[in-house]
Formats: sequence, structure tokens, C-alpha cells
Amino acid sequence: MAERRWHQLYFEDWVAREGLELVGGHRVGNIYTMPLRGWERTGGKAVQIQLEGTGELNAAYVQEIAASNQLKPQRHLYEELIYILSGRGATSVWVDPEHKGTFEWQTGSLFAIPLNSWHQHFNTSGDEGARYLAVTTAPVMMNLLRNDDAIFNSNLSFPERYQGEHGYFSGEIEEDDYLGWGQPYHVNFSNLFSDIHALPLHELNRGVDTRGNQFELANGVLSAHLLEMPGGTFTKLHRHGPGAHVIWLKGEGYTVLFPDGGEMTKEEWGPGTMLVPPAFWWHQHCCVTKEPGLHLALKLSSRRNIVTKASTATLKSTREGGNQMDFEDMPRQQLDMLKRMFAEECERRGTPARMEAIRGG
Ligand SMILES: [Fe+2]
Repeated sequence: MAERRWHQLYFEDWVAREGLELVGGHRVGNIYTMPLRGWERTGGKAVQIQLEGTGELNAAYVQEIAASNQLKPQRHLYEELIYILSGRGATSVWVDPEHKGTFEWQTGSLFAIPLNSWHQHFNTSGDEGARYLAVTTAPVMMNLLRNDDAIFNSNLSFPERYQGEHGYFSGEIEEDDYLGWGQPYHVNFSNLFSDIHALPLHELNRGVDTRGNQFELANGVLSAHLLEMPGGTFTKLHRHGPGAHVIWLKGEGYTVLFPDGGEMTKEEWGPGTMLVPPAFWWHQHCCVTKEPGLHLALKLSSRRNIVTKASTATLKSTREGGNQMDFEDMPRQQLDMLKRMFAEECERRGTPARMEAIRGG
């Protein structure tokens, strides 16, 4: 093994040894079109993404499986959440090879690989490649253990998560109106969502007529949510801990981000853009198209399995000790400035800005 440079994290070193590119920074322009390289370990083509807002705790990668192709079986001592960007196929998961669970997926499917379970992906289309986005806990696991064998060749089992149960990937969904940290949230529990966009969205206190859905899978610490905001609106300011990968699927706009008392930055987005807000930076999403903005977030911490309390109370008002600021609590000057900037952006595109709905100014 080549000698590792000082200050290089084990995860970064591993990506280099795998022969893959590691994309950094604050955002990825388009995960649907970013270039990929052959990945010997899996037999697919991939790119690894470690954005700054992850705090090096989780990371993402995009992988493509060629038409009529299958990847090599894998297992690893880190969690993995997979969202299908395009194509269709099937995945087998097992602890004991005599008892494999196999399920089909398509564009819009979301599923998790239970910790350290064997799994193998198949592209069942004869003429179309399949592309997926995964978020994993590989960085934190690798940076702590610093041993490839421990990560990729461990016999540890986690029966509290998965032990090859029949029907584990049946796609059955359990719903719960969960009240955690003083805020209601509609949570869907399953190990496989065959189409997250087919489920009804629920009212969510993030802004004007915002709706959402929370997804928790495989008794893991990684979870997901969908958030839809009407065109011509912006969300309330909020903040949380590291590792929330925000993937824009519909609409166009920008996100305003700033650390407490610090300078404001603006990141533009459209379908395919992925952003990770830096830990504890205030941020607010602004949708400037007539069409609603829709994002999927793949993130560290589920409602059920909390990794860090830094990512809790994100829908609770700062007035009650939470991490979301109501419009009327924003500094007047700042709200006025944001509204001016937003009105101009909407006007340029002929989008009616719903200013009357954004109270407080
Ligand atoms: Fe956020």
C-alpha cells in the first residue's frame, strides 16, 4: 500500500486506492450526468463524493450498471442508502446464501442495505444503463477503524437489523405520525420503497404550503425525506448537524446559507443538483420557478436512531429552543433583503412570487 500522506483521511486514501475520483466542495451540479470511472471492486462505473458539509461522517457515490449487467457481490461494515436515479433492475441481499431476499427496483425506488449484509445488484434492462445515488457511513467507519479488512471482510452480524427474514423486502410500509423533539413528522418505515413519489405527501412546517415525507429503513442511522415547496416561495431558515445530502429533483432556485453572524453564500440548483449544507449553517431554499421545488434528502440520523442531537428539533421554532426560525423572527433587514433578491429572481422568470404568504415584513 502506498504510504498515506499526513492529513489525508483514511476514507480519502481508500477512494484513491480504488482508482476513483473524489469530488469535494459544496455542491455537485448534476448527479445524473457527472462522469464516472470503472470500479474494479464492483464491476460498475462510479464516482465518490465527499462534500464539505458532511463533516467527513458520511459520503455519497453515484454508480452505473451497464445494460444486462450485474455487479459483483459486496458486503461492508457501513450503512448504505440507495436511490435509483434511472433504469430498472433487481437486488439480492443475504446473510446466508441459502436464504437470499431479492426485490425489483426502478427510477424512484429507495432502499437500504442492512449493515454488513451481502448484496448484489442486477440491471434487468437489455438496452438501458441503470444509475443510482448512494449515501453511506463509509467515511466515519473507515476513518475510525483504518483497516480495509475490518470494513470489507468482517463476519459480524447484526440480527437486530436483518438476519435474512422472509419478506424483509416486501415493500410493506408502516406509517407513524411521530412526535419527536416537540415537532410532528409523518414517518414511513420500510426496507424498500419501490417508488417514493407514489406516496402522498403530508403537511410539514417548513414554509408556505410545504409538504413532506420521512423514510426510515433497515433500522439504520441513515434516513431520507422528501420536501416539496410551491414555486415562488422560500422556506423558513433552519440549521442542523452535518451530512444532509439534499438532491433537487424538480424546480429551480437557489439556497441561501450562512454561519451564525457570518457572510451569506448562495448556491443555485435545478434537477440533479446535490448540496450538503455545512453543519449548523442557517439555510433556506428559494424556488423561483412556477413549478414546485422538490428535493430528496439522504441524511445522517433517523428519527428512530439518533446519531447526533445536532440534527434534532429542525422544525421547532427558535423561540421554543428549536433550530428553525419563523419568518417574523428573522432580522427585519435580512428578511427585506432576501425578499428583494427573491422578487427580482422570480420577476426575471415571470414567476409570481407569493410574498403575501411570507409573513414578517
Ligand atoms: Fe436542511
